[in-house]
Amino acid sequence: MNKDFWNNIFSQDKDYVKISHSFLDELLKHINLQENSKILDIGCGTGDLVIKLAKKGFQSTGLDISNIALEKAKNKALEEKVESLTNFIEFDIDSFDLKTIPNSPFDLITCKLVFAFIKDKPSFLKNIKNILTKNGHFVLITPVLYPNVEYSEHLKKISVDKQKTLDLLNQVFSKVEIFKESPIKDNGTEIVFIASL
Ligand SMILES: C[S@@+](CC[C@H](N)C(=O)[O-])C[C@H]1O[C@@H](n2cnc3c(N)ncnc32)[C@H](O)[C@@H]1O
Repeated sequence: MNKDFWNNIFSQDKDYVKISHSFLDELLKHINLQENSKILDIGCGTGDLVIKLAKKGFQSTGLDISNIALEKAKNKALEEKVESLTNFIEFDIDSFDLKTIPNSPFDLITCKLVFAFIKDKPSFLKNIKNILTKNGHFVLITPVLYPNVEYSEHLKKISVDKQKTLDLLNQVFSKVEIFKESPIKDNGTEIVFIASL
């Protein structure tokens, strides 16, 4: 799924389920995110998570392949008066080196509803590790599939195998936990993984 695919989606005013304020507070408390932490959201779309984090005072960067999504994100940041705490970068994670992103390393890296679309997942995770601070956390939010369950074609496209994902995360990070597992529509499941060095 290339830039044109995503630009086409975002030009139709499509958007995705947002993280609730209460869940974000629970997550930040759990990882004990300190003041002045730097945050990166990979595949930030129209910037909801980046802006919510900036409104809490964190310097937050969002990157995405879609310039249309990023334009919307920048406008929202302006409306919410957090433009000085946000930075939105057009970036293709399948082609560019994450180490070139300004402000690296990050104390928190998030990636929500994007993992299924990443071509080389093992390399992606290794690259994440390289731009995470020593005590940093990687929060991966993704729909997952269980073996021997019938899923819709749509769900299969946006999901990843749960066990394979856990195995991949465990190969790169020394601590991996499942912070939350919740049902989503069409009999799917969404997991919030938290990984650290
Ligand atoms: C399902 S949307 C989720 C957007 C956002 N994380 C959210 O939860 O609202 C997937 C996002 O990943 C971005 N994306 C897909 N492939 C990408 C790539 N190779 N590099 C950077 N961003 C990518 C898309 O443009 C899109 O914004």
